[in-house]
Amino acid sequence: MRSSRSHSKVARSAVAAGLLPLLLATAAAPATAAPPAKAQEDASYGQAKKNGLRTVAPDDLVIGTAAAGGGHHLTAGYPDPFTYDKQYRKILNAEFNSVSPENQMKWDFIHPEEGVYDFAAADAIVANAQANGQVVRGHTLLWHSQLPAWVTEGDHTDAELEAILKDHIQTVVGRYKGRIQQWDVANEIFADTWDAGGVRLRDDPELAASNIFIERLGPEIIGKAFRWAHEADPEAKLFLNDYAVEDVNTKSTAYYELAKELLAEGVPLHGFAFQAHLDLQYPFPASLEANMQRFDDLGLETAVTELDVRFTLPESGVPTAEQLAEQADTYQGVLEACLSVEDCNSFTIWGFTDKYSWVPSFSPGQGAATVMFEDYERKPAYYALHETLAQASGEEG
Ligand code: G3I
Repeated sequence: MRSSRSHSKVARSAVAAGLLPLLLATAAAPATAAPPAKAQEDASYGQAKKNGLRTVAPDDLVIGTAAAGGGHHLTAGYPDPFTYDKQYRKILNAEFNSVSPENQMKWDFIHPEEGVYDFAAADAIVANAQANGQVVRGHTLLWHSQLPAWVTEGDHTDAELEAILKDHIQTVVGRYKGRIQQWDVANEIFADTWDAGGVRLRDDPELAASNIFIERLGPEIIGKAFRWAHEADPEAKLFLNDYAVEDVNTKSTAYYELAKELLAEGVPLHGFAFQAHLDLQYPFPASLEANMQRFDDLGLETAVTELDVRFTLPESGVPTAEQLAEQADTYQGVLEACLSVEDCNSFTIWGFTDKYSWVPSFSPGQGAATVMFEDYERKPAYYALHETLAQASGEEG
């Protein structure tokens, strides 16, 4: 446990209670009472600049967001958010001191054809980060999803496939050497309890989502991927990253065992990351802190990398005050777990405004999963994070 950050569990309900007037105003105000969108955006930026999350966070914890672009945005009918939405970028820079490319470093985006790399969007994120005092989380290198057809449907021998993976990792990691704080080297490499065969490496074409590299090259490819990334950037912290691992459960325990094996083999594994795509219809992952702690006890860093909290929207499409309060509690609970574990040094939310969240495109009927509404008005979840961070910093001082 980190003593400097240990804090009495903030009275979560008290935070929510303190926000009641705001909650009610937010949920009940007639649409006509809202300020024009541009004015609201400007006010939001002003607030971020003066007192953003990054300004109140403890010195040893970076606060991050995904930088919206690629993926579901490609068919969303608006221009690429990070590139073209200046107001979005200004608020992002004022609020956060860590940034994760949402899609812009994934294979299908950065390596669309064999031998062809497109670094423009990733370069822009890294340059913007340097200009704004942000660290970057690289995402991601060994993943079953968002692989281009030339990889999944190519006629490569196993040896060629391994050479392709090595070249990709060393080219991408090497390009950003010294400028990426953490890399999600292996992403979602275990199947879920609800998949055929249950929790197991994604090494079987019968799985709905198999990992072609593990399937064809065996589990040894995982350690090799870490070693290649480490060769390309010895300073970057190298992570395993997944969803549905927040609690101590079958899947997180499979990772715990894998992490021990990799460490015993001398693989440069430095951290385990919890994506934390949460949903209010399921209970809060009450063993998150204990789970983080067992990875911390292995000598690994931990991180929260993709937190968002979705729920089913009422027919009106407007979240209720109760939903927003419960969402705030959930954001706060995840942050508190991270604050309580010595080497949880990075806390990232998967987008900060509903304007660009991936959730509605993926789960129609659900949404409002981020900490700001579409016009950047802050939700109770934002204030819960802000207050919890400020309190953790105050106790350090
Ligand atoms: O590739 C297909 C294309 O063939 C098809 O024509 C098109 C039609 O809509 O869809 C294309 O796939 C889209 C993909 O991005 C393209 O890159 C998916 O619909 C779209 O849902 C997908 O969105 C991204 C998603 O990862 C893909 O898994 C989201 O923008 C991105 O936020 C999300 O992020 C992931 C993290 O990387 C890993 N953890 C889970 C997290 C949420 O899913």
